[in-house]
Amino acid sequence: EYHKGVKNMYEKGYLHKVPKKYIFPASERPTTSMNDSNSPKENLQLPIIDFAELIGPNRPQVLRSLANACEQYGFFQLVNHSISDDITRCMIDVIGRFFDLPMEERSKYMTTDMRAAVRYGTSFSQTKDSVFCWRDFLKLICHPLPDFVPHWPASPSDFQEVVATYAKETKQLFMAIMKAILESLGIMEDNQEEMTKEKDNNDNNNIMKELDNGSQMLVTNFYPPCPEPDLTLGMHPHSDYGFLTLLLQDEVEGLQIQFQDKWLTVQPIPNAFVVNIGDHLEIFSNGKYKSVLHRVLVNEVKSRISIASLHSLPFNCTVKPSPKLIDEENPKRYMDTDFGSFLAYVSTRETKKKDFLESRK
Ligand code: SIN
Ligand code: FE2
Repeated sequence: EYHKGVKNMYEKGYLHKVPKKYIFPASERPTTSMNDSNSPKENLQLPIIDFAELIGPNRPQVLRSLANACEQYGFFQLVNHSISDDITRCMIDVIGRFFDLPMEERSKYMTTDMRAAVRYGTSFSQTKDSVFCWRDFLKLICHPLPDFVPHWPASPSDFQEVVATYAKETKQLFMAIMKAILESLGIMEDNQEEMTKEKDNNDNNNIMKELDNGSQMLVTNFYPPCPEPDLTLGMHPHSDYGFLTLLLQDEVEGLQIQFQDKWLTVQPIPNAFVVNIGDHLEIFSNGKYKSVLHRVLVNEVKSRISIASLHSLPFNCTVKPSPKLIDEENPKRYMDTDFGSFLAYVSTRETKKKDFLESRK
């Protein structure tokens, strides 16, 4: 039964207790990990970046706040962004309606093929996890969009249209944030002069172009209420692989990030995006910006929906520190890594992904 996901069990009314399969070892449970045992949950006000300010006359100050957020937290909340409330509301709504479809409909998309255009599953990797996470997911590959949309679920009937619009808008927003992030790193993208420089040093000139043609994956998550939320997690601690993740969540809290050796709960802000640095941007920035561990708690009362849009280079690319961020004071901190072996590694050891970054130093 576990392999049909946690929502299915919940619907069948099986869940008065957390089944063994989902019980985390004591040291990894929400209330005992990281020396904050018995202390009440601590909330965290993430740095807030006002996107409208970013494209106005205050850009220099906002870029400094952005750099601070990326260095100190690896996370920020983006408000006043370019995506309308209508689009974000419709997106959460259609994803909720998808997860409300009968199990037979959802299970059509269950596959172990990691490269499938659509994949429904539970936990992190239901074939490899010894303890399961309290989470069902639907993953959608998005780039190039016209190739993939027809393979996405056709039910609910507005699914493809709503999700395609959302994917397009988040990609554009990702590109705008990346442009600001490169600027905050001191890498200017306006490269008229660069074009004339030596051709084989054009990594950075091309980074925006590569990202524009890069990978995008939507990971939609459903966390049903849990009878004993202290025994399990919706997602175990992990970092994201790409350049940036743009996370949209409903009003139910659950996301925690590691900050100064504590787990802190992120307060949802309606229609804001929680944006975080991924492993590839940590490498690209030569360690200046960090990809930070995060996890998800579940609760007894409310189900929760979140939608993560993960962006990176094309799948056949090599990820490496930008030459513009390497000098005598800042030696190259990571080896070049091809995306393929990165994904192969992280798909076998999701929780220990940080080891991979360590091994590339
Ligand atoms: C969530 O907040 O539910 C998901 C966070 C993540 O994708 O890691
Ligand atoms: Fe994540």
